[in-house]
Amino acid sequence: MYKTENLFKNTINEIQNLWKTNKNLSKFVSWPQDLKFTNSQNKRIAVTDKLSSWNINDQSSNSKIHKLISNLSQYVRWESGYYEKDVSKSFLNNYGFFELIGPTGHFETTKMALYVNFLDKNTIYPLHNHEAEELYYIVSGEAKFEDEKGEYKILTPTETRFHKSYEPHAITTYKKQILSFVIWKNKFEKVSKIFK
Ligand SMILES: [Fe+2]
Repeated sequence: MYKTENLFKNTINEIQNLWKTNKNLSKFVSWPQDLKFTNSQNKRIAVTDKLSSWNINDQSSNSKIHKLISNLSQYVRWESGYYEKDVSKSFLNNYGFFELIGPTGHFETTKMALYVNFLDKNTIYPLHNHEAEELYYIVSGEAKFEDEKGEYKILTPTETRFHKSYEPHAITTYKKQILSFVIWKNKFEKVSKIFK
C-alpha cells in the first residue's frame, strides 16, 4: 500500500513540475492547491495492460512521466466512458481513461479535472463533444486531431490542443497509440456525446 501511495504521489509531483514549465497548461488552469489523495481503489479494463506494457525509450520526451503513468495503470480506476450501443466493441477494447485529478479522482479537487487518456493504435475515436472547455496535452505516441470540417493536425509529445465548450472533435491513431492528459475546466459532469 505504501509503495502504491508513493507511486501516486511521485506521479502527481511530476505532473505539477510540468505545470511549472509549460505555459499552455498553467495558462489554461492554475495548478490546484487543494489536492487531496483519496484512495487507490482500482478498476481494470481492456487497456489497463496495454498501457502497463507500453515501454518508451528513455531519451524520448516525457519518458519519466510516461513510465510513472504506465506503472500506475494497474492501480487506477479505469473507465470506458461509453456503452457498446454508442461505439463499436473494438473501440471499447482500445480506449479508456482514468480521473487522476478531479471531483471524483484519485486526487480530489473541485477546481479542475485531469483525465489520463489512452487510445490504442489504428483506432478512430469518432466526433464527440461536451460542455467543459478542454486542453489535450500529449504525453507519448501520436494521433490525428480533427474538427467537424475535417481540418486536422497530427499531435506529438508535449503538444497541446484546446477545444472550446461543445466544440466537436475526433481523434484517429494509425501506427502509434497515444497517451494524453485531458484537462477540463468550468464544467465537470462527465458527459461526452458521440455524434451519430
Ligand atoms: Fe474532449
